Amino acid sequence: MKIEELPIPESVKNVIINSGITELYPPQEEAVRAGALDGKNFVLASPTASGKTLIAELCALKHVLEKNGKVLYLTPLRALANEKYEEFKKYAVVQKSDGRRVRVGISTGDYDSSDPWLEKFDIIVTTNEKADSLLRHRARWMDEISLVVADEVHLLNDAERGPTLEVVLARLMQINPDAQLLALSATVKNAEEAAEWLKAGSITTEWRPVVLKEGVLLHNEAQFKDGGALKIEKPTKNPAINLALHIIQSGGQALLFAGTRKNSVGLARKAATSVSALLSKPMKRSLTRISEQILATGERTRISELLAELVQRGTAFHHAGLGSGHRRIIEDSFREGKIKVLTATPTLAFGVNLPARMVVIHDYRRYEPGYGYYPITVLEYKQMAGRAGRPRYDKVGEALLIAKTEDERDYLMESYVLAEPERIWSKLAVERILRSHVLATIAADFARTEQGIYDFFGKTFYAYQYDPRAIKGLITKILKFLYEEKMIEVSGENVYATKFGRRISELYIDPVSGVMIRDALISRAARLTDISFLHMISHTPDMFPKLRPYSGEIDELALFVDQRREEFMFEVPDPWADRIDYEEFLGEAKLAWVLGAWIEETTEDETIEKFRVQPGDLYRLITTARWLLYASHELATLFGHKDVLPHLAELMERTEKGVKRELLPLVRLEGIGRVRGRILYDAGLKTIDDLKRAPLEKLTGLPLIGPKLAKKIKEQVGGFVKSEEWKKLKKETAEQRALTEY
Ligand SMILES: Nc1ncnc2c1ncn2[C@@H]1O[C@H](COP(=O)(O)OP(=O)(O)OP(=O)(O)O)[C@@H](O)[C@H]1O
Ligand SMILES: [Mg+2]
Repeated sequence: MKIEELPIPESVKNVIINSGITELYPPQEEAVRAGALDGKNFVLASPTASGKTLIAELCALKHVLEKNGKVLYLTPLRALANEKYEEFKKYAVVQKSDGRRVRVGISTGDYDSSDPWLEKFDIIVTTNEKADSLLRHRARWMDEISLVVADEVHLLNDAERGPTLEVVLARLMQINPDAQLLALSATVKNAEEAAEWLKAGSITTEWRPVVLKEGVLLHNEAQFKDGGALKIEKPTKNPAINLALHIIQSGGQALLFAGTRKNSVGLARKAATSVSALLSKPMKRSLTRISEQILATGERTRISELLAELVQRGTAFHHAGLGSGHRRIIEDSFREGKIKVLTATPTLAFGVNLPARMVVIHDYRRYEPGYGYYPITVLEYKQMAGRAGRPRYDKVGEALLIAKTEDERDYLMESYVLAEPERIWSKLAVERILRSHVLATIAADFARTEQGIYDFFGKTFYAYQYDPRAIKGLITKILKFLYEEKMIEVSGENVYATKFGRRISELYIDPVSGVMIRDALISRAARLTDISFLHMISHTPDMFPKLRPYSGEIDELALFVDQRREEFMFEVPDPWADRIDYEEFLGEAKLAWVLGAWIEETTEDETIEKFRVQPGDLYRLITTARWLLYASHELATLFGHKDVLPHLAELMERTEKGVKRELLPLVRLEGIGRVRGRILYDAGLKTIDDLKRAPLEKLTGLPLIGPKLAKKIKEQVGGFVKSEEWKKLKKETAEQRALTEY
């Protein structure tokens, strides 16, 4: 079916055709024929890169242009929300019947807001968590949603992210029973079941735009599912690297999945030398530029240095420990075909759109601290293998597992290549996760009686798959807890949230965190310091990622805890009586210590060295900490602890910026972060007034401060830049740049 022939407005067709798409893929055609454009609910389950987004785009534009509707697009990750937002923005040129253009908005941050400004957008992209928080704030515009798109809906199966998605979908169906629902999923065994739950039709296909050849490599011979075989040379001892070299020689790129971050780095290191030998001179020059870009992005650390060095040799690694700036550079240069071999942890397998001609699944076992090694699921395997083959570039994509023995090859063939993906199962009935959703149901007025609460949870995927009664006992237990902790009140049949309960729900924190913070603010530490508050939030179940102290630092941590005993809001467990609790406490103390070091301006590199915390993790930690400090500030306000408010507010800001108190006025300026702030301060420019008085040359004479930034600083502090002075400066720097480039 041609795009031309679709029953959609001409202006939309033009946008699609201009983007290079002229014909629907077969699964897309199937969805259109089945009635996706006529408002029917569907679960579309199809392989990676089979074009599910386009169906969502067609439906969305249909709603906005023909039904005066509003679209909510749900994604499980911020990175994915950004990607979808960019994709939808191409429709911003299309005109609606009221003469206005289609407006696309995105909201992924700040969980304590109903974002009324979103009201004016036609298509709104959010994460599942943000949608959950918007529902808790009863954002009014949500009642106007006429189409809900839920992307990556197979994540219902995910223990951490699944329950939120499930609750969000159930709530949206409750408030907008007439809205159309489009759920996009990887192929799973029970897509039909999910569809029945969502009162939707289901379309499942195995079709892919590029043929996928899946197989297993043993020594230097690959066997494929379709019976084919491939023999490769053995220039190195590592079969995964040999595969990569093979594919580079035929003009392709390889994506190698490793089980752990450490393995992904190790594999990239091993591959780099051989890859480098295959690169042309112009390619190497282009890689040098990317490598310089990596060093100029974010703080310089041993990780960014290693990454830059590998990139120069056409190789890179990608994992959650990398800062987001570095991750983006790697993703872009891989997409541009410059990085030939990318090693990655499985986090890359879902979400980011990064296909490669060859995918190698180096480790089919994954390591998790506390659990040990376990084999990945077929669903995960399919997600990784599905990255093979770039639409529009490759005719086939190849995905290979690596076996060491014949037995292992047979096992891998059987259990992955020929296996069907598993069923997905709801993970909602876990107390830690459910309690916050039970409270939110009451606090945001989705239910007013105990029966109403059971009824709501009776409509979840969990209740559909198991039995509503299976979850009832757990809910009763949670209600009792919420009542005892004064988050809810009961009067006859009716259940209400107290002010405390409502605030906890809005702040988007675990009720248990709320109780901990409330009690800590009453009992207080003997000596109230930064560490007191940083530890208080680290003690809550919302703190993420958790840090496990490694064995070499236990003694030092124990000493830290001992010396800071008076500063903790919670009692230190006895190491002899309660070893497990004590070690958990050490882990929390470590979090507080890391955060404390961050606000004392410890560099990222020192943080890696001293605490083994990598930039990516550090930033996640900072984001969570900032949010929990905000929540603490709000609870302190609610309970009238005025005395701690200034301290909490200051900590929040210092945590966000990673600076000592003295730098705060400087880093409030746009363009000034912790590094430049420190440079200014140490050069004697300590206040806004200092900056106002300083001559422009004084600023540009400092490291990392160019003329553009200097001007921006001056403008912000209300200083004055003479136009001759500015012209002269611009000319000088242009000459300088010309000199360095040639
Ligand atoms: N009909 C088409 N013709 C050509 N290209 C298309 C067509 N439909 C989609 N594409 C392109 O295919 C690529 C993959 O599409 P999309 O991101 O929607 O995959 P997906 O099914 O959502 O996969 P995943 O499960 O990985 O999210 C996109 O770059 C898109 O532009
Ligand atoms: Mg998709």
